[in-house]
Amino acid sequence: MCSSSFSSSSHTIPAALAILLALLLHWSRAQLSPSFYDMTCPGLSDIVLDVVLQAQISDPRMPASLIRLHFHDCFVDGCDASVLLDNSDTIVSEKDAVPNANSARGFDVIDAIKSAVEETCLGVVSCADILALAAEAAVSLSGGPSWEVQLGRRDGTTANISGANNLPGPVDTLAVLLSKFAAVGLDDTDLVTLSGAHTFGRAQCKSFAARLYNYSGTERPDPSLDSAYLALLQDQCPDGEDGTSLNDLDPTTPDAFDGNYYFNLQNGQGLLLSDQEIYAGAGTAAIVDGYAGDESGFFESFAASMINMGNISPLAGSEGEVRLNCRQVNAS
Ligand code: HEM
Ligand SMILES: *[C@@H]1O[C@H](CO)[C@@H](O)[C@H](O)[C@H]1NC(C)=O
Ligand SMILES: *[C@@H]1O[C@H](CO)[C@@H](O)[C@H](O)[C@H]1NC(C)=O
Repeated sequence: MCSSSFSSSSHTIPAALAILLALLLHWSRAQLSPSFYDMTCPGLSDIVLDVVLQAQISDPRMPASLIRLHFHDCFVDGCDASVLLDNSDTIVSEKDAVPNANSARGFDVIDAIKSAVEETCLGVVSCADILALAAEAAVSLSGGPSWEVQLGRRDGTTANISGANNLPGPVDTLAVLLSKFAAVGLDDTDLVTLSGAHTFGRAQCKSFAARLYNYSGTERPDPSLDSAYLALLQDQCPDGEDGTSLNDLDPTTPDAFDGNYYFNLQNGQGLLLSDQEIYAGAGTAAIVDGYAGDESGFFESFAASMINMGNISPLAGSEGEVRLNCRQVNAS
């Protein structure tokens, strides 16, 4: 709101001061805040919570699907709701990228949240913020931690399908996972902590089938898999089938957000190769071992890492727009 007065008067003040002011302005723009909608949409988090709760009641998997959408949004050109955009004249949708196609879901729930929000707060809440709020509601409604969601992101007007194809993948090695996280400013603790979201939700057989029958081209199963778990998975995912049937990411408590993921890794029961990889490196394994004995420590770290992930390159201030329909950029 004060940007015009800064820029119009900047020639009258010393250059160094002008640069400092510009930096401060930029810094203040990039800051998200939990109170961003306190005046413009005070009931926002309750509206989101209610729609996510209804969605969870009709589909217990939905909370998992919603947090994954926020992850897939933030890792591609920042948390700008790019993942929600459908194909159009100007958009090549990220929904068609390999990690998303026939896999990412929950778009209808995001639409339902957006409609409910628009009824009370017309045109003020971004789709990127709705994704961040839905992710928090998803976790807290599933027994996991709550946290104060940082808000004030704006929606982007572009999508990046090659960015989406470059999302961390289920056969990435630990080194590749670490470098993809580092590329968005997240560290090894964030990697181990956020992977704990694989405590709920489902994965298709094709996401891990190579581990069951032809690990690393050996034509043998992955030796790090627990033998009973291997037998169960081979039964659920017969060799050579199309591989779209669903499996619990956490075989112990499939729909609860808890710390069992880390016990699973210790027991050779991580479902994806990328999960088990986290237990294969000494540094990351030490973090796993710490969480396995300390669920409340994991919950605290998870909240912190979700805020870190939600802070990836947000558009703020007057950048981007507040989309009216999360699936398309506003008409110009
Ligand atoms: C570390 C790198 C990661 C890799 C390689 C990875 C990969 C995958 C894959 C392959 C699936 C199953 C997709 C399918 O078979 O259709 C999946 C599901 C899931 N992922 Fe990740 N993921 C990663 C990180 C994350 C993060 C950071 C989060 C959230 C904070 C997350 C949350 C989820 C959830 C909740 C599901 C289940 C979704 C559902 O049931 O709809 N993942 N992930
Ligand atoms: C799209 O994503 C790719 C791969 O992550 C990245 O190199 C590229 O800069 C992105 N393009 C745009 C226009 O942001
Ligand atoms: C196993 O994987 C290797 C390397 O990816 C491949 O060359 C081989 O044909 C696979 N074997 C079978 C039986 O699919």
